[in-house]
Amino acid sequence: MIENTFTLINNRTGKQYKYNILNATKGPDVVDMRKFFQDTGLFSYDPAYTSTASCTSDITFIDGKKGELTYRGIAIEELASNHTYLESCFLLLNGNIPSSEELIEFDLEIRHRAFLHEGLRNIFNAFPDNAHPMATLSAGVTALSTFYNDHLEIDDEQEYQEMARRIIAKIPTIVAFAYRHSIGIPFIQPNIDLGFTENFLTMMRAYPGGKMHRRADGYDSLKEIEIRALDTIFTLHADHEQNASTTVVRGVASTGAHPYVAISSGISALWGRAHGGANESVIAQLEMIGSVDRVEEFIAKAKDPEDSFRLMGFGHRVYKNFDPRAKVLKGLQDKLKEELTLDSELMAIASKIEEIALNDEYFISRNLYPNIDFYSGVILTALQIPKSMFTPIFVIGRTVGWITQWIEFKKDKTSKIARPRQLYIGE
Ligand code: ACO
Repeated sequence: MIENTFTLINNRTGKQYKYNILNATKGPDVVDMRKFFQDTGLFSYDPAYTSTASCTSDITFIDGKKGELTYRGIAIEELASNHTYLESCFLLLNGNIPSSEELIEFDLEIRHRAFLHEGLRNIFNAFPDNAHPMATLSAGVTALSTFYNDHLEIDDEQEYQEMARRIIAKIPTIVAFAYRHSIGIPFIQPNIDLGFTENFLTMMRAYPGGKMHRRADGYDSLKEIEIRALDTIFTLHADHEQNASTTVVRGVASTGAHPYVAISSGISALWGRAHGGANESVIAQLEMIGSVDRVEEFIAKAKDPEDSFRLMGFGHRVYKNFDPRAKVLKGLQDKLKEELTLDSELMAIASKIEEIALNDEYFISRNLYPNIDFYSGVILTALQIPKSMFTPIFVIGRTVGWITQWIEFKKDKTSKIARPRQLYIGE
């Protein structure tokens, strides 16, 4: 019989240590190292957690080699093609696709909870106009914890769900507030007659009074495909297991701080361009490249080991084959191309980069494929969303993932404060 343990030998002392191997239902099994320091007096060194499982979870699974992503066991392709974002939210929070009754109840509650306290509007008014929306968004979500300040010690399923539904419902309104503030136009309140994604797009695009911006093709109301495209983007971003921002959310959860402050910390972590900020950087980079005939020059810069320039929207810490979310978005981008007026120069530059990189030895040998951000930036541009709002849109999608992971952490009776150790090399 194979023993389910892992033996380590300290060659300095000749001592052997045995650790149990914990079985995963999918993906790599895990060596249980919790007693390693107690046993050996040594720490393990893994600063970016490249080999470390920080928790157990049954929410989301990624197989980076196969390019697989599932929420509660359901493939992302299935969710993106046949279900709405709110259905995925319900699935992440409850473990099942909602029945039609459950969906009606969930949808209705989200609509009713989308409104913001007037005091929050005053807080937004105090921010400078030129503040980045990620900064005002993070501050707005922290401010939300001052309006719901009795949530520190909740431990009952109904309270968890209420807290989760409230933040999922209010985030799009806060994002729209952040945007309207950044361009100096009056806030508009959510419309209870509209579904989640249509409501958000309306709060983004409507003039004061409710009339919508006219599209380049003269069409002045939302097209079904625009709502569907954004809804799909939300679904694709809903969760991604223990990524940087989720790890931050769990870390803050471990200290016992307010859940909305944990979400706000997740928002701050997502802002960086190595994480959620990459979608904004993709478009900024395409604009900087400026024309198709300059693409080769920038590909050469990306390959130059002496140059810190990187192709934004390429590479991923976990996906070393392809990003399944990118595949869904590529299909969506092609559909949108047919129905909307896309920025053709930007599209042409993006296509040229994709074509060269996918056939270039440098990118192939390092498994650098287009990630979700490579396509989402172009799609969001087609939906008339300015690039400063790309990462806030990622926030809308990811909020359900953060809060679901927060709840999972809280329910785990073995969870402790996150407190890594260090390799001290100072005086
Ligand atoms: N362009 C050019 N070269 C790259 C790129 C890139 N985008 N990404 C990685 N490389 C190269 C590195 O220079 C390195 O080369 P070397 O082996 O010759 O030194 C090699 O590929 C491995 O790179 P790492 O940084 O070790 O890969 P890691 O897995 O740590 O990083 C990351 C992943 C941060 C996503 C990286 O690929 C990157 O910076 N990409 C651009 C930013 C981006 O698109 N981020 C979005 C991530 S997806 C998300 O958060 C939703």
